[in-house]
Amino acid sequence: MTIHASQTTSTVGADVVASYRENGFVHIPQVLTPEEVERYRDAARHAYETKAAYNGPDDNTFKQILQLWQTDETLRDLTFHAGLANIATQLAGIPLMLWHDQLLIKKPHNGSATEYHQDAPYWPHANARHRLSAWIALVDVPVERGCMTFIPGTHRWTDIRAVDLHDRTDFSDAAPDVTYLPRVTVPLRAGDCTFHNAYLAHTANPNDTDDFRYAFVNIYVDAKLTYDGRPHPCTDGLGLEIGSPLPAEHFPRLPQ
Ligand code: SIN
Ligand code: NI
Repeated sequence: MTIHASQTTSTVGADVVASYRENGFVHIPQVLTPEEVERYRDAARHAYETKAAYNGPDDNTFKQILQLWQTDETLRDLTFHAGLANIATQLAGIPLMLWHDQLLIKKPHNGSATEYHQDAPYWPHANARHRLSAWIALVDVPVERGCMTFIPGTHRWTDIRAVDLHDRTDFSDAAPDVTYLPRVTVPLRAGDCTFHNAYLAHTANPNDTDDFRYAFVNIYVDAKLTYDGRPHPCTDGLGLEIGSPLPAEHFPRLPQ
């Protein structure tokens, strides 16, 4: 595999790690160079035109394309980006593997927010000590184009059910005590990313602009977690036993 090493940030200071652990998210500016952004954005555009959406053609929230590392030689470099994996490992403080990558593309004037949810309840994992996502902006993502908003501290709430991310009130129905907590909205420049804990509650605005919102997400999880038997597109068909580790050929250990 060709790794195009970034010239930009690949380690973070103790203050950044402390802030991530306190709040459940952190903004890392310019983790990609402008050249990397251009290369991956072009590949994301091509993927949008040529690949099927996992969530089907009628979901306006975004077009979700999974597991680019398995089908796209260019985006594979972003999935295994050494700088991102190094930062994720520092933030988590344990060895990580890739759970999956994904493109989340909001078309212009899509009219649909990604409603509040936590990521972890959707995943068939047991014994996970830490899981987090890098949400990477491949275009400028101001508030109006569908940036993320987080509810700091909610990563400590680990028993909220999976909610419907198309339903505006399902998360507050599931966790009414969260309703009056302060929220932080994080507009990103192309090449910036945020890392967020898999239990942190978050939402993304609709895209009200004339341009596509291209976001690429790497999901990093505890390399030692086990499979809990629930269905998921990334584990279905692999013949995994409940309680078994996730095999490295499908869930590569990081950094590569
Ligand atoms: C989005 O980008 O629309 C949502 C991302 C996420 O839920 O992690
Ligand atoms: Ni999410």
